[in-house]
Amino acid sequence: MTALDLSRPVAVVGTGTMGQGIAQVALVAGHPVRLYDAVPGRADAAAEAIGARLDRLVEKDRLTGADRDAARARLQPAGSLADLADCVLVVEAVLEQLDVKQQLFRDLEDIVEDDCLLATNTSSLSVTAIGGALRNPGRLVGLHFFNPAPLLPLVEVVSGYASDFSSATRAYETARAWGKTPVACADTPGFIVNRIARPFYAEAFAVYEAQAADPATIDAVLRESGGFRMGAFELTDLIGQDVNESVTHSVWQSFFQDVRFTPSLAQRRLVESGRLGRKTGHGWYDYADDAERSEPHTAEKAQAPAYVVAEGDLGPASELLALIREAGIQVREDEEDHGTRLVLPSGGQLVLADGQTSVEFRDVVYFDLALDYRKATRIALSASQDTAPQTLSEAVGLFQALGKDVSVIGDVPGMIVARTVARIVDLAHDAVAKGVATEEDIDTAMRLGVNYPLGPFEWSRRLGRSWACSVLDDLHQRDPSGRYAPSLALYRHAYASEKRDGTS
Ligand SMILES: NC(=O)c1ccc[n+]([C@@H]2O[C@H](COP(=O)([O-])OP(=O)(O)OC[C@H]3O[C@@H](n4cnc5c(N)ncnc54)[C@H](O)[C@@H]3O)[C@@H](O)[C@H]2O)c1
Repeated sequence: MTALDLSRPVAVVGTGTMGQGIAQVALVAGHPVRLYDAVPGRADAAAEAIGARLDRLVEKDRLTGADRDAARARLQPAGSLADLADCVLVVEAVLEQLDVKQQLFRDLEDIVEDDCLLATNTSSLSVTAIGGALRNPGRLVGLHFFNPAPLLPLVEVVSGYASDFSSATRAYETARAWGKTPVACADTPGFIVNRIARPFYAEAFAVYEAQAADPATIDAVLRESGGFRMGAFELTDLIGQDVNESVTHSVWQSFFQDVRFTPSLAQRRLVESGRLGRKTGHGWYDYADDAERSEPHTAEKAQAPAYVVAEGDLGPASELLALIREAGIQVREDEEDHGTRLVLPSGGQLVLADGQTSVEFRDVVYFDLALDYRKATRIALSASQDTAPQTLSEAVGLFQALGKDVSVIGDVPGMIVARTVARIVDLAHDAVAKGVATEEDIDTAMRLGVNYPLGPFEWSRRLGRSWACSVLDDLHQRDPSGRYAPSLALYRHAYASEKRDGTS
């Protein structure tokens, strides 16, 4: 099955933000493009706006003047749906409302040819439900572009229960021919990206709600230690708190209020108060010109310890030993396997976040997971009231000696990065087990759709196959609501690996 013939026209219905972007993509790829919008004048305005964007591409040398002129000549606003009769594909980007989309496709079915492919850009409705209105639902698929569509490469190609395999394949190949990176996914709430990304926001908000750290500190740890491009607070301020919350709410409702997707009360209050983020000048952060910049909490300079004793295998943090040595701090290795920890001269222990809290142990400081301990510029530490001040001070001094800023946060299990990554890895395994998408497509979707530094499966391989399951087991014991309960898929994965490794 090949991509759609470039000489045949493609229609975009609904010429708002997404419709314009999708139309530009199809146009630049070479199709004649028709634009239709229910509000008179909007399709013409959209054609103007797309033309202006093509002009900017020419200014930036990304498009030749001749290609721009040819593209402009291929772009046509349509006065009525009937003008779309000869289109080979109609992509819908209208209001996110089931009855509106169903009515549109019902109308289109009476107009277009039998071989015309129909696609919806819905982000939260079921493709199956939209297709329920059609005489031939086999021709309808989801083509979920990300905003801004001309820039973001990812397209989720969603097959509803009734979508024909050939329709999905045509849509997939067409997206590829348009220069996009398509991934195939089943029709489940949030598709791939909006489903698996939920914990990135939810866990940051939960740490904040637990009073363990403020938004600026959590964001800094997610960026500088977790390797995420942006922190959850600044990113949702950019997306819009209302938009982000409505996706979370929709995924949670669509999964019949599954606790793993429970929205955040703190974010609800923000939305209720009209603090929607950058667009209203205030969200988690204040964007007024004279507003004081929120800075992360960074620990004062502390004395580095002269040595550490490494006991057991530090697992995902084992690179730390080399870094400590390079910083001129002696590492004494204890051959006996006492667990995964560093013992400080004070006698206190430094342990990688594992889903437990430091109050459960005598004199423990936890340190958070980093994507890459060498590159990380900040590390979060957590301690309890039972941690000796000297232990915390030595822990701070140790990481500072490695060139890291240190943020001391409250004693929350799983800290910031560890709990976030463990949950993302879990949802990814769960999604594969439920037939949502392949491992490769999920990794691609999360890297391209939300800019994660690694796909969940790449991350999981790097962390060790049972790491996420073990962190979530510990978190689940401390919060038995079910939010952290590892999925059966993750259990299977972890225990299969343990058997293979001969560790159980
Ligand atoms: N904005 C995003 O980031 C984003 C990302 C992915 C998917 N989506 C989805 O794309 C769709 C459009 O979103 P948007 O942000 O571009 O919305 P928008 O409000 O910017 O544009 C919607 C357009 O559709 C028109 N319209 C409404 N009903 C219509 C009808 N029956 N027939 C023809 N035109 C109609 C409106 O006049 C408007 O111009 C929604 O389904 C949304 O969930 C949005």
